Amino acid sequence: MFEANSDYLKLPGSYLFSTIAKKVAAYSKEHPDAKLVRLGIGDVTQPLPPAVIKALHKAVDEQADPATFRGYAPDLGYEFLRHAIAENSYRALGCDIADDEVFVSDGAKSDSGNIQEIFEKNNIIAVTDPVYPVYVDSNVMAGRTGTYDEKTTRWSDVVYMPCTEENGFCPDFPEKTPDVIYICSPNNPTGMALTKDQLQAWVDYANRNGAVIIFDSAYEAYISEDHIPHSIFECEGSRTCAIEIRSFSKNAGFTGLRLGATIIPKDLKDHNGQALYPLWARRHGTKYNGAPYIVQRAGEACYTNEGKQEIREMVGRYMKNAGFIKDSLAGMGYTVYGGVNSPYIWLKTPNNLTSWEFFDLLLNKANVVGTPGSGFGPSGEHFFRLTSFGTYEASVEAMERIRRL
Ligand code: MLT
Repeated sequence: MFEANSDYLKLPGSYLFSTIAKKVAAYSKEHPDAKLVRLGIGDVTQPLPPAVIKALHKAVDEQADPATFRGYAPDLGYEFLRHAIAENSYRALGCDIADDEVFVSDGAKSDSGNIQEIFEKNNIIAVTDPVYPVYVDSNVMAGRTGTYDEKTTRWSDVVYMPCTEENGFCPDFPEKTPDVIYICSPNNPTGMALTKDQLQAWVDYANRNGAVIIFDSAYEAYISEDHIPHSIFECEGSRTCAIEIRSFSKNAGFTGLRLGATIIPKDLKDHNGQALYPLWARRHGTKYNGAPYIVQRAGEACYTNEGKQEIREMVGRYMKNAGFIKDSLAGMGYTVYGGVNSPYIWLKTPNNLTSWEFFDLLLNKANVVGTPGSGFGPSGEHFFRLTSFGTYEASVEAMERIRRL
């Protein structure tokens, strides 16, 4: 735990989205007139909700007055925001989460990368394949993943759980019992979501085996079906086996503003009986000085009636794109997944092209940028991810260009 090492030097190339950005920048340099449609990285395009803007202005103005000026934020988050999150995102769903079990941060990406620090160095991690690359890469940097096999693009000490068409993109329990299990639902990149029963089965598995699930619910705002849980804490027994990571990026458009939260129940212990709550509090207090006050006020505004309504409308607009992209591709004969409880559309590449071949084809012939499925892991090969975070016009334009291929 907390050990420095140089395993990150063994990471292949750069971070997936940096690699794509470099390729796209090189193409744009060579073809300055190309009008690219970018449906690659899951970055939002709609402006912040008016309730958030109002809260930001108010909080900024407070900083001009010595009576309301704020210095360092409390490292675990302001009580007003911890309360708003616990009340609206958890207790409203019937989840037993206290205000002080919410740790406010500068975003779900940092938390998903940093959370591994509270687990022992020799812990075995299990990840879905394909997987959001941060989970694996951050464990590689911590020296927990063994050696890298370039042929299989897998790490020797990681338990991979393939998510394929055959298992409906829902991972099967692994043969080797892991200590830490990363689950993202609705999933990035496949766009598929675990049902309540499926997630309950994972909670039961973790409790039986003394494992801890790190549940990434960054995309929960996109859930449209009743049988899909918004939080792992909706499952019975989850307080003794789960940590949840929340984001304000994909629902409220905070990708540039930065705000997230991690929920750790006080009764949660690792398999050695070590309580994880005080470890994360210690880590937060040591390495982090709290999300900015003005940003936390903006987060609080997401939970006002006005904010909730504006967020629903924003998510609705992205989901209109998702439905359009999904239907258009299906109409062209593509096999398509996701896009129902998720802003991501996961399609099979045509003519058995590799994911990167299809990436190049789309970039060069259609000037459309997407994300190659194999970049998320070997089971993502021959798949491709498109996001619905563009504008409706961009989604229409992208589909027109793909149709003409
Ligand atoms: C993605 O495109 O997978 C996400 O935007 C990456 C992230 O949220 O960090």
